Amino acid sequence: MADIQNGDSCSSSPLELFERVTAQGEKVRSLKAGKASTEEIDAAVKLLLSLKVTYKTATGQDYKAGSPPVDFSPVSNNGPITTQDEDFVDPWTVQTSNAKGVDYDKLIVRFGSSKIDKELINRIERVTGKTPHRFLRRGIFFSHRDMNQILDAYENKKPFYLYTGRGPSSEAMHVGHLIPFIFTKWLQEIFNVPLVIQLTDDEKYLWKDLTIERAYEYAIENAKDIIACGFDINKTFIFSDLDYLGMSSGYYKNVVKVQKHVTFNQVKGIFGFTDSDCIGKISFPAIQAAPSFSSSFPQIFKDKKDIQCLIPCAIDQDPYFRMTRDVAPRIGYLKPALLHSVFFPALQGAQTKMSASDPNTSIFLTDTPKQIKTKINKHAFSGGKDTIEEHRKYGGNCEVDVSYMYLTFFLEDDDKLEQMKQAYTSGALLTGELKKVLIETLQPLIAAHQQRRKQITDEMVKQFMTPRKLAFDF
Ligand code: TYM
Repeated sequence: MADIQNGDSCSSSPLELFERVTAQGEKVRSLKAGKASTEEIDAAVKLLLSLKVTYKTATGQDYKAGSPPVDFSPVSNNGPITTQDEDFVDPWTVQTSNAKGVDYDKLIVRFGSSKIDKELINRIERVTGKTPHRFLRRGIFFSHRDMNQILDAYENKKPFYLYTGRGPSSEAMHVGHLIPFIFTKWLQEIFNVPLVIQLTDDEKYLWKDLTIERAYEYAIENAKDIIACGFDINKTFIFSDLDYLGMSSGYYKNVVKVQKHVTFNQVKGIFGFTDSDCIGKISFPAIQAAPSFSSSFPQIFKDKKDIQCLIPCAIDQDPYFRMTRDVAPRIGYLKPALLHSVFFPALQGAQTKMSASDPNTSIFLTDTPKQIKTKINKHAFSGGKDTIEEHRKYGGNCEVDVSYMYLTFFLEDDDKLEQMKQAYTSGALLTGELKKVLIETLQPLIAAHQQRRKQITDEMVKQFMTPRKLAFDF
């Protein structure tokens, strides 16, 4: 498809329009300050007013200086809707003052995504004939973009593919990282579609104090953990950016197309980059965007440019894909669809996500049964009362209790989970007893993961990471 240029304001994105209004406003101010002629000022004001009208028509919002349009806004405290206790969510930081965690309903409004409601879950069940995954039943995957389009495609026997990823910042992944991969594996099974998994070793080299060689080593180690989640080798391609970008005849072309259609101002707005960030960071979002387009993988999709992509991830990655969705139609591609999960909280509480950069907040996939037990008993924030007597009398608070939250992610049995919620809330179940259930749930799960990981040979990793045709004909 043709590479579409955006010359006039009719084909500009909301953010570009926003920038044009801002620039024109600045021009008017400087003309006035410079005591320009009345005609010159009048002409500039006239253009400013007409740009504001175009902006309102395109976005449905009045132009407000400093507040970019909602569907394409910085994901930060500077976002368009600011309340006193605003949550902060971007690809690097998740922070809220609320012990219950991020207000995800508010985030849906701020990000302009859609809630995964009962109707959508029922539709997934209807079209696939499979019981919805516990992550759907419990609202862990809570938000989406265009999932109905994917289901339409599936019903009409039109192909689509899955894309997810990992930034290999350390050798060991934590249990929070499992969430998108567990869900992606389920999606791959129920829909029987190709999957591409990006390892952004380049991103981690750029952002962290790592050598290129170390970032690549981490990518290979992380690939083993990802493969241990059980992905089908015939349907899955895993790639390191450092390797694949120079190997593919399609990927780099798409990176460059994206780079041409996103301005420095836009990435500053979306990711908070500053003038002193290195240019590698500034251009990196195009590298995470490009796998959303099937022509980045000619070995899998041949010359097909219109195979739609579905991206499961936690909502921290959404800024990359808001940018991608804004660019896609302008370079002749389909917008990727998304499924967003909530964050697996830090041990210390849901004010922040579990993060590999802070080992104390995390249970790692390399932890021993003893380490798991100690970490949970010592650090898992409790919603229980200070004394047994008070707890029995007033009960515990599941909404802030990290052990209970972790069980909602990993305990499969809905009835048992509900019983525990009731028992903890009524005070019949004590914090120590709840923690014991969590320890007994996580220890075998992580041990089984470690067992599977041990079976992954270097040869298997190489096979998963070799560009090749998968078990699908395009
Ligand atoms: P990374 O390595 O930070 O995270 C990998 C995946 O795990 C999700 N995630 C979490 N999910 C639940 N709870 C948590 N505490 C938690 N921490 C991380 C992330 O949302 C992500 O889905 N730049 C990306 C790598 C990437 C990518 C992608 C991710 C490249 N392409 C496409 C998703 C989709 C990164 O550094 O992810």
